[in-house]
Amino acid sequence: MTPIMCGSATVGRVINPFQVTKPVAPAEVIDREDETARLVSLAEEANNARLVAPRRYGKTSLLRRVQQRLDRAGWVTVYVDLLGIVTLEDFAQRVERAYSDALTGTIGKWFAGLRRSLRPALTIGGGPVPVSASLDLGAGRREALVARLALPTRVFEKTGQRVHVVFDEFQELDAVGGQADAVVRSEIQHHGDMASYVFAGSQLRMMEMLFADRKRAFYGQTERVFLQPLEAEPLAEYLASRFERSNKDITEAALGALLDLVGGHPQRAMAAAHALWNAAERTADLDQWETARSSLMSAVEDELKTAWVELSSTERRTLVAVSLGSPPYQRSDGHSQGAAVARALASLEGRGVITRLDGRWLVVDPLLAEWVRLGRPSG
Ligand SMILES: Nc1ncnc2c1ncn2[C@@H]1O[C@H](COP(=O)(O)OP(=O)(O)O)[C@@H](O)[C@H]1O
Ligand SMILES: [Mg+2]
Repeated sequence: MTPIMCGSATVGRVINPFQVTKPVAPAEVIDREDETARLVSLAEEANNARLVAPRRYGKTSLLRRVQQRLDRAGWVTVYVDLLGIVTLEDFAQRVERAYSDALTGTIGKWFAGLRRSLRPALTIGGGPVPVSASLDLGAGRREALVARLALPTRVFEKTGQRVHVVFDEFQELDAVGGQADAVVRSEIQHHGDMASYVFAGSQLRMMEMLFADRKRAFYGQTERVFLQPLEAEPLAEYLASRFERSNKDITEAALGALLDLVGGHPQRAMAAAHALWNAAERTADLDQWETARSSLMSAVEDELKTAWVELSSTERRTLVAVSLGSPPYQRSDGHSQGAAVARALASLEGRGVITRLDGRWLVVDPLLAEWVRLGRPSG
């Protein structure tokens, strides 16, 4: 296998192969085969899906791989990132821009014309230009959004290709108000076989509210796909092979220690491997692991402190108990702090700090759990 080399300025220097900040390329996605196949099948069946998992669990990476497969099977794939939207107009703009990014070549030229004829128009790219008068009215904003949400039908009519649309960070719709989810639902229900959708999100509580609450527009309309932590076996194989490809070794002991710390958390696994790779000249053994582990813990310390100070005292106590695996929260006598602890568990889950796995509570971020176990902030 060829080592990954960087540019001519540093001839022969091998680049750290572990991606920790951005979604990984489809070919680098570890495992997730079943989830990929399921999402592809749901799309083919014209069923809509919701992909729910804590942040940094690889949702976006997985969706890119799903869309790459559908792309190769002749679909038009559109990826809409809703992170940070606050108005219906933001939403409409994100959708329009996503089509403009997705459509290239001849069809891209057709779309360049079409988008200019969409009514009401949007101030493309945002900026200080005031929006058109009609958009000041709620109805105008809705109309603008609906015109963009209807784009799969235009693309299908033009090309005969089915359209796969991902709405990533869909929980952000809650900040938009105006029953944005109902607007989406009422438009896309007419798309039949022309388009399939995936709604992805990380704040579990909010995603569940949008999709599992009988009063909300999407109730019962989507199939749920959930991401578990990565299995130790494919993760170990991947890490070992990437060390090898980049001309380094990782010993079994170091690999074992890394796997024990990260507990299958995808991004934490990559971050730990990234640090270990940097710490090792050639061979990564337990000494290098100790160096890597302390640099990793100090790199995330501010983030962990921030998460900690946002918690109430009951939430903190509950988090300590979950981190230690010593469950005061499993009391069955219903006495003492039972109700308060139950509330704390629910709120920690809603914020994505803990999750329930195989009937047990688990701290989502293994580094937070470790930091809590090691004694937490000293100042
Ligand atoms: N299946 C995977 N294989 C390899 N790395 C992964 C995988 N899933 C997640 N990661 C790691 O997690 C990071 C965040 O992935 P991302 O897809 O952005 O997660 P999410 O969208 O759930 O927040 C990536 O940079 C990568 O380090
Ligand atoms: Mg993401």
